Amino acid sequence: MTYTPEEYLQAARSVAENAYAPYSHFRVGAVAMGDDGNLYRGVNVENAAYPSGVCAEASAISAAVTAGVRKIEVVAVACIDATQEDQSYPCGQCRQRLNEFRVETVIVAGPDGEPRIHSFDELLPFGFRFS
Ligand code: THU
Repeated sequence: MTYTPEEYLQAARSVAENAYAPYSHFRVGAVAMGDDGNLYRGVNVENAAYPSGVCAEASAISAAVTAGVRKIEVVAVACIDATQEDQSYPCGQCRQRLNEFRVETVIVAGPDGEPRIHSFDELLPFGFRFS
């Protein structure tokens, strides 16, 4: 099953409601479309020991990999508490995580709430990966 960019973004917004972000109050949701045609969801999960928290993208990737996926086609990220247009772009560490699974397209919300569609290379040119 394929989704429109709006549907990907809406799925990310929807799952962001489940984020556990009592420290930052910055709830993030991510969805990852595996090459198996399934959509995997993730949220940020914070921790009282702050560095132990994980990003939404990492959660979604973990869900996909746990299901056996090794190639992710599309990732959409949404922060339902964002106040700036660029706040739902994946952090640097998550870009590297996405690179591992050869993500092709990243969708985030623009300032108007409409999807912004990026090729992964725009977000991380010349990324490091074995093979
Ligand atoms: N966060 C994500 O989930 N994804 C990102 O790409 C950037 C940041 C989370 C981590 C933390 O729980 C909160 O947003 C504030 O940094």
